[in-house]
Amino acid sequence: MNRIILIAALFLFGAVAQAADPAAGKEKSKVCAACHGEGGAGLEAMQDFPRLAGQYNDYIIRALKDYQAGNRKNPIMSVQAKTLSANDILDLAAYFSSQQALVGKK
Ligand code: HEC
Repeated sequence: MNRIILIAALFLFGAVAQAADPAAGKEKSKVCAACHGEGGAGLEAMQDFPRLAGQYNDYIIRALKDYQAGNRKNPIMSVQAKTLSANDILDLAAYFSSQQALVGKK
């Protein structure tokens, strides 16, 4: 019985350790900055690439999972999403959604 409780406790601890970490997301977002700009703020020279700063957390998670699953198709982003773990996605979404949205910025 005690062993079952111990295993359950370890499992729960593992789940907590998996929680989204925006600081880790910032580190992982360096590759994204080439197209989405620093902090997802967008790039002057890349007007066709969407800004991610201030986007809803759930939207980013959904978009990345859809690229991975092939439900959303884009030759560039499908490749990018393929390398991400489930945890990477949570961290990246937490980071970009915590950035200030720059609505109307040109
Ligand atoms: C080589 C350029 C490039 C890189 C690098 C890149 N992206 Fe993208 N990303 C794009 C383009 C282009 C789109 C628009 C694709 C489309 O229309 O579906 C996009 C779309 C997205 C979207 C959907 C946005 C929306 O408004 O629907 C998300 C989320 C996203 N990227 C996240 C990321 C993350 C996270 C990374 C880094 C791991 C990353 N991207 C790296 C080019 C890039």
